[in-house]
Amino acid sequence: MKFAAQKGTRDILPSEIYKWQKAERMFADVCHMYGYEEIRIPTFEQTDLFQRGVGDTTDVVQKEMYTFNDKGGRSITLRPEGTAGVVRSYIENGMSSLPNPVRLFYNITAFRYENVQKGRYREFHQFGLEAFGSEGPDIDAEIISILTVFFKKVGLKNIKLCINSIGCPTCRKKYNEVLKDYFRPNLDSMCDDCKARFDKNPLRMIDCKDDRCKKFAEGAPRLIDYLCEDCNNHFEGLKKNLDTLGITYTIDSGIVRGLDYYTRTVFEFVSENVGTQGTILGGGRYDGLVATMDGAPTPGIGFAMGAERFLLEADAQGIDFEEPNYVKVYFADLSPEAKDQIKKLVYELRLNDIGCEMDLMGRAFRAQMKYAGKHNIPYLVAIGDDELSSGVVKVKCMADGSQTDVELSKIVDYFKSILA
Ligand code: HAM
Repeated sequence: MKFAAQKGTRDILPSEIYKWQKAERMFADVCHMYGYEEIRIPTFEQTDLFQRGVGDTTDVVQKEMYTFNDKGGRSITLRPEGTAGVVRSYIENGMSSLPNPVRLFYNITAFRYENVQKGRYREFHQFGLEAFGSEGPDIDAEIISILTVFFKKVGLKNIKLCINSIGCPTCRKKYNEVLKDYFRPNLDSMCDDCKARFDKNPLRMIDCKDDRCKKFAEGAPRLIDYLCEDCNNHFEGLKKNLDTLGITYTIDSGIVRGLDYYTRTVFEFVSENVGTQGTILGGGRYDGLVATMDGAPTPGIGFAMGAERFLLEADAQGIDFEEPNYVKVYFADLSPEAKDQIKKLVYELRLNDIGCEMDLMGRAFRAQMKYAGKHNIPYLVAIGDDELSSGVVKVKCMADGSQTDVELSKIVDYFKSILA
């Protein structure tokens, strides 16, 4: 039997890893520039954390979690997202005593048992961030600007920002009644999930994926038309901030997001390129979540970008992440004595941060040259008995074919000077 990667998981191979590394670095750089610090949270948490944090009427919790009992009988879940874990860590580590806003970013794997298709996997990666302690709307706009800066640096274009407000518990209470009045006459022909959501969380009925429900959901009243004064002011403040920064946006009153913790601002960045999965990222404010998880009431906001979807989009737009060439010099040997000398040389160069390679396969000289060419190694040094006795080698630059005589004893300094 041949083993294969599990459905919905994939290997990230050396041929593409540089894109990931570059994207991770660029995202971290932009976050750092805005005063965010990296946090690393565990891959699994107790199941209740997600039930309570993400919400047990959501598809993520009801249908998509990888949940199992460990050998100690605890119910464990592989994180389906990062926010709940970061909030747990924020509370557990007493971060509320830090100066506000507390700003954290992360780069995580997440796990959801989903129908696999382009841009939708069972193990996927998220670049995300969370900020605690600031009620906004200034920080809402600042967070959105982190993304516009990031996209600009990467060179991505035509990513549409869609914003909405889904209010607070006060406006939601009133709206839920409006929504129930709207859905009630058709409830019998809706899916079982929606029948259950009707009493527990009617807002969830709006983004039901079932065809029986979609047609009713489309015409449903929108929360944005029922915002209380405070929420309305917040939303106006966000728009004003975005206008000030010149960030263009579309108000999409249909965005409710698939997770229960959101309040007020919600937003998504959408593209048409990533198969059917156009949403590259989603985020929003969650002013009640820290308290829901038994922390002191603290406003919060964040987003997560699907790394796979981001990279699919970048590929579709022809973004060049420039594959780095870590190995700069190849030393080919023409005799066993030269090989001994080369061993010392490459070690010395590596101690001086210069990437280099030599033959480890007992290849003949021509085959060594072929190997160096295949790997696009930019400089080549061939050493035989003549070079050993003269103490001078020829350094060949593969880009233009030029050759330079360099004293063996000065080879480190030479490469340091040309590769600096
Ligand atoms: P989310 O919308 O569930 O939000 O996921 C964020 C992003 O993760 C999506 O826009 C998408 O790019 C990516 N994603 C989600 N599921 C998959 C999948 N199965 N395969 C590939 N990519 C996927 C959250 O996770 C929230 N925690 C975001 C957040 C942070 N809100 C506030 N803070």
